[in-house]
Amino acid sequence: MSNDVSFDNAVTEINEGVAQEVHSIEDVETASDFELKHTPRLEVIEGSKGQTVKVGIGLKGITHPQTEEHYIEWIRAFDGTEPLGTVSFGPADAPVAEFEVKRTSGQIVVQALCNLHGIWEARV
Ligand SMILES: [Fe+2]
Repeated sequence: MSNDVSFDNAVTEINEGVAQEVHSIEDVETASDFELKHTPRLEVIEGSKGQTVKVGIGLKGITHPQTEEHYIEWIRAFDGTEPLGTVSFGPADAPVAEFEVKRTSGQIVVQALCNLHGIWEARV
């Protein structure tokens, strides 16, 4: 995998004092396979006490590798800016997570970290 991919719509966020770009796609139809396989896939399930957001990695059937060399390290979610939690993975783990959501902010933000390709974000 080449590392000289350009990210037109990357923004920078400060994590623990270190600036990191956060990548996201604007249009699933025009996104590259590289972008699709890194983007969090979100499914919102309505429950009696609120919502659950189920998260996997990859859109349109394109899944991200999960190997010693290349894997998803964590998935985290926010209700607006309020952290809902972080789920960490090793190379042998399936990168899936679930978060309980009260949806007080109106927008759920989910981010995933690839050990080689940085942070990828999706919102619902
Ligand atoms: Fe990756």
